Amino acid sequence: MSGFDFSKRDSFGSRMGVIMAAAGSAVGLGNIWRFPYILGENGGGAFLIIYLVIIFAIGIPVMMSELVIGRRTQRNPVGAFRMLSSRRPWFLVGMMGIVAAFMILAFYTAVAGWTLEYIYQILAGGIQGKSSAELTVMFDSFRSESLRPALWFSIFLLATAGIVLGGVRKGIEKSTKVLMPLLFILLVLMCIKSLTLPGAGRGVEFLFRPDFSKITGTTVLMALGQAFFSLSIGMGTLITYGSYIPADNKLASTAVQVSMVDLFIAVLAGLAIFPAVFAFGISPASGEALTFIVLPGIFQQVSGGMIFAFAFFFLLAIAALTSTISVMEVIVAYFSEQLNMSRRTAIIIATASMFILGISASLSWGVMRDVKLFNLNIFDLFNFTTANILLPLGGLLIVAFLGWFFPGHAVRDELSNGGTLRVRYYSLYRFIIRFIAPVAIALVFLNGLGLLRF
Ligand code: PFF
Repeated sequence: MSGFDFSKRDSFGSRMGVIMAAAGSAVGLGNIWRFPYILGENGGGAFLIIYLVIIFAIGIPVMMSELVIGRRTQRNPVGAFRMLSSRRPWFLVGMMGIVAAFMILAFYTAVAGWTLEYIYQILAGGIQGKSSAELTVMFDSFRSESLRPALWFSIFLLATAGIVLGGVRKGIEKSTKVLMPLLFILLVLMCIKSLTLPGAGRGVEFLFRPDFSKITGTTVLMALGQAFFSLSIGMGTLITYGSYIPADNKLASTAVQVSMVDLFIAVLAGLAIFPAVFAFGISPASGEALTFIVLPGIFQQVSGGMIFAFAFFFLLAIAALTSTISVMEVIVAYFSEQLNMSRRTAIIIATASMFILGISASLSWGVMRDVKLFNLNIFDLFNFTTANILLPLGGLLIVAFLGWFFPGHAVRDELSNGGTLRVRYYSLYRFIIRFIAPVAIALVFLNGLGLLRF
């Protein structure tokens, strides 16, 4: 039995604090780095449509379900499932989330480290005046170095640990309130610049005109994985954050608002990137380098661009930080509540083990480049397996649990704040979590992984 004193758990202070913290987790490199490159590699407009459908039909219901479980139990993901189902092994869903958290933190913090390298390069004058081709070379040679990626990774990891150590309310709420609106404004300005570049129209077309002939089972799986990754769902992050949410919060509207902000930022990032991709003659399928080549290119086109570039990469790093703290919080809540460690010890152990995993991920193009499994380096392996396998599988099990193995009246009670709110959407939600979401995830999964072809 855990000796953790649950009456001393921290909680979010205000309604705005809840939205900002959850949106802070959702909005990050997933929107600005991952979404554009995955969309670029998977056919543009058609991917976007599939992505939209998935967000509404699966993403929002899964997010609501996580918040329900979290607030109902006031526990970390493992503790939550243990509490709701003490006789069956559902806690393994929580454990899977902890494993996913480690893997995500490893490669995600590596990318966050790349943003620090860019901030450094901007200050050192290393970006100014570079063409797209030169930026590509710069990115590739940085990534294949054997020290700097690991160094920036380490700095970012320590920053994450420092904030998580500061506690839930103080650390998380304060940092997100001011900076995220600034990132948004900058992104809008970049869209405007990008859209007015010569040849921008082809980028808009790429993003919005669907070519369904490009869609395969893998594409749909990638869209599913991207949706889960971007919304921070499927591994218990929102169970953990849900557990800090006050009793009067409307969970359904929180889920909808957070998802809409997340979607909006991803589409804005697409609108900033793809017009410029075509204007500069870069391939939309440039992979993980895409954002890091295209965005500096846009800043070259503006007078005083390096000041904007600095502000942008700084804010991107902060957006990444509000996501990494949410992932670390999952691990720390688990360690401290289930394994009865102090938060400090939990953070030290999580950070120390992260060093090993994350340095390996950040050196995946450097000294670790020959370490491969299924032809993927460590970074790509973590990236692919978490987004496309662990998160959707976690989401499937979370909704299946609430839909089939948990009393419906208790779910309704949580969504309606003990019957004080009207929940007209409830039967639709219940139908989705019982049938639509589990079946859809299972089919996309089997098809996308080549286990079932149709
Ligand atoms: N949603 C974050 C992003 O889009 O950048 C990444 C992330 C955070 C994924 C937290 C998963 C998670 F639990």
